[in-house]
Amino acid sequence: MTEHVVIEDTGSVRLIRLDRPDKLNALTSAMYDALREALAEADGSEAIGAVVFSGAPGAFSSGNDLSDFVEASRHPFENSPALHFIRQLARTRTPMVAAVDGVAVGIGATLTLHCDLVYASPAARFRMPFVELGLVPEAGSSYLLPRRIGLQRATEILLFSEPYDADEAVRLGLVNAVIPADLLLDHALTKAGRLAALPKGPMQATRALIRGDQAALEAAVETEAVAFETRLRSPEAQTAFAAFLNRSRKT
Ligand code: COA
Repeated sequence: MTEHVVIEDTGSVRLIRLDRPDKLNALTSAMYDALREALAEADGSEAIGAVVFSGAPGAFSSGNDLSDFVEASRHPFENSPALHFIRQLARTRTPMVAAVDGVAVGIGATLTLHCDLVYASPAARFRMPFVELGLVPEAGSSYLLPRRIGLQRATEILLFSEPYDADEAVRLGLVNAVIPADLLLDHALTKAGRLAALPKGPMQATRALIRGDQAALEAAVETEAVAFETRLRSPEAQTAFAAFLNRSRKT
């Protein structure tokens, strides 16, 4: 249990709101556990027809908590709440919608690749700085991103850790629309309501068809996890984590 993930069910829509604004919604192990449980429960429930992910004003999520990465590198990655969440995310059958305001870094960005609909405020800033941190991409992003936007642009985003904003995300086809911040959540909830109102059988069958090769996605998640574990323990990653954490201490 953590107070940093708030679940609110309204009708057939489940809102999963990240609520750790002082750390820009950096995800801890407890938060990953809560997210996984919330998704698994939604998938098992007849009452829930769609899920919305949202964050705090100006912070969708700054990604994995970097002090948690230091701790995670001391344990088998196979047991990590992050990996269990990612596996659940990749196999979730309930349609998912993201409402992204502000920073969406690391898993904060890769999570949105799994969402059926993504809406972003003009202040949204996406970034996948895995290489910069001595890591490799996760959450199936090495599989999903090049297939979505082409290898050339995916290379800039994944190798150079290039950020992209909301307008660019729309151009790339990674975001459906840019919505003013004060209307963003309502917009996402309304779209989720429409998804939830669709007849479940044809909706889920169509969703599976348009998303493509589920087995390949799940295989990519596992391949990434093996490389990720090696990279987590590498001197490059440990140095990058220490640099961020020491910077935080100094400021
Ligand atoms: N893990 C742990 N703490 C984090 C965090 C993370 N991923 N991201 C932000 N925070 C914390 C900061 O340490 C700071 O805490 P403090 O006030 O106790 O010092 C607080 O959140 C605000 O962050 P700050 O860096 O001051 O905000 P900013 O607006 O200047 O910068 C970011 C925002 C997102 C650019 C910057 O926080 C950042 O680069 N975070 C790391 C992102 C990352 O690498 N995530 C992992 C991806 S795999």
